[in-house]
Amino acid sequence: MKKQTRRQFLEDSLFATAAAAAAVATPIFSQMATGQSSSPNEKLLCAIIGVNSRGGDHIGGMVRRKDVEIAYIVDVDEKVGEKNCADIEKRTGKRPKWVKDMRTAFDDKSLDFITTATPNHWHALAGIWAMQAGLDAYIEKPICHNIKEGRALVTAAKKYKKICQVGTQCRSNPAVQNAMKFIEEGGIGEVNFSRGLCYKRRKSIGALGDYPIPEQIDFNLWSGPVQYTTPKLTRPKLHYDWHWQRAYGNGDSGNQGPHQTDIARWGLGINRHPNSIITYGGRLGYQAERNDPNYIDAGDTANTEVAIYDYGDKTMVFETRGLSVDDSADMGITTMFNNQTKGNKIGVIFYGTEGYLVQIEYTHCIAFDLKGKIIKEFKGGGDHYGNFIDAMRSRRSQDLNSDAFQGHLSAGLADLANISYYLGEDNKVSVSEARAILENVPSRDQNIETLYRTARHLTDNGVDLDKYPMSMGPMLKFDPVKEVFTNNAAANELLTADYRAPFVCPTADKV
Ligand SMILES: NC(=O)c1ccc[n+]([C@@H]2O[C@H](COP(=O)([O-])OP(=O)(O)OC[C@H]3O[C@@H](n4cnc5c(N)ncnc54)[C@H](O)[C@@H]3O)[C@@H](O)[C@H]2O)c1
Repeated sequence: MKKQTRRQFLEDSLFATAAAAAAVATPIFSQMATGQSSSPNEKLLCAIIGVNSRGGDHIGGMVRRKDVEIAYIVDVDEKVGEKNCADIEKRTGKRPKWVKDMRTAFDDKSLDFITTATPNHWHALAGIWAMQAGLDAYIEKPICHNIKEGRALVTAAKKYKKICQVGTQCRSNPAVQNAMKFIEEGGIGEVNFSRGLCYKRRKSIGALGDYPIPEQIDFNLWSGPVQYTTPKLTRPKLHYDWHWQRAYGNGDSGNQGPHQTDIARWGLGINRHPNSIITYGGRLGYQAERNDPNYIDAGDTANTEVAIYDYGDKTMVFETRGLSVDDSADMGITTMFNNQTKGNKIGVIFYGTEGYLVQIEYTHCIAFDLKGKIIKEFKGGGDHYGNFIDAMRSRRSQDLNSDAFQGHLSAGLADLANISYYLGEDNKVSVSEARAILENVPSRDQNIETLYRTARHLTDNGVDLDKYPMSMGPMLKFDPVKEVFTNNAAANELLTADYRAPFVCPTADKV
């Protein structure tokens, strides 16, 4: 049995006050967890939620620790849940309980924390419910599926005094930490522009249609906050491919993006939302790939997307390419990048007055001078789960490498970009029309060059841009403090979602 330390007693008292308020808003949990231990000798009990793929890494991260016990595996897929319980039993000698409804685990007052790797549409609600139940939470990136959810999570972590880490693990890697410090100390001069890249092949997920739900899945729980009338899939595969359907995922700007935009923002020293956003792109190339002009892929997020974020004196760009990147159009600086990488190109490039710094892998960054000569390399991985647990012990959110607020800002970048793209989806433009619009964006030259490279990449992949043009979203002005758009009412409606009761994610004023 766990002993109650003085710190725990104090924390529980604080929690009791907050919990009383929470009980009014969300009368879901019959009991509240007793809170977290501050003694490194005491075992922390956790529930790991969503364990098909990324959740396996969470399991690995926790199984390695002597001071943590996995008490619950939560998954709405019975086969996935039971298989992982059996694996954990083999590795630790103790079988966790499999449950399919996270609320069952949250009702267990011996629990200390959760980690969650469900699809994105569940992240915020799972995190908020957990914190309302008195649990700390490690939530995968993107921490939320829309901006209001992100703000609600930040507020919940503060209100319930919970430790909430987002799964952008590069923040714990010395390679990236030291590279960001190098930039901050002027290692490549003044830096006002950074570019995140996700050039990662994404094949079609299959034709849009009606597909059965695998029998071991509880689809009511899988869908959670997302509305449906008839339980059915419109894509062939249930797991993973939800990333490319906007009701559940955010495309690669919200999948790979939060790793790179997080670093791109960090290196520029930006701790706020942008002033404006404009996005262009499309879900293109699958007709050519299938040799069928009528082919409709089941995904509805962009597979090719360029988002431009304006911060006044600084600009960030994030480029997504889902078609073949083997010999796709490149730029001078990525030639340096390419020389260091094979296949996918995922990373960040910082453009300084005295050089460039490139994040090439999660654990590897390189600084070049303006002529392309390497001036410094940064290597090394860290322990993001360990950082979370250390912060749970210290009870200091400021000890986290990647707290809810940072998660909210970086997930927000994907949300903002996609809102511009979704609103402009029917605004098909030729390359020259797109160029005319980009004349007025910040970092004009960089952005016009990006447009031509993107168009060349598409035509290299057999996309006939006359027949299948790109879409151009509106330039959206954003108030970074109030978190509202100031020039587009339709965009403001997309800052939240139409939730399906009882899976309603509360707004910040109601957490
Ligand atoms: N940090 C990283 O490097 C990294 C890497 C990969 C994925 N991720 C993130 O991890 C998350 C999961 O990605 P994935 O590729 O593992 O997806 P996946 O679809 O393969 O797995 C999701 C799992 O969650 C389960 N699930 C769905 N709803 C649930 C619910 N309400 N309760 C419990 N379980 C539920 C599903 O049954 C499935 O087993 C995503 O948000 C993704 O962005 C992070």
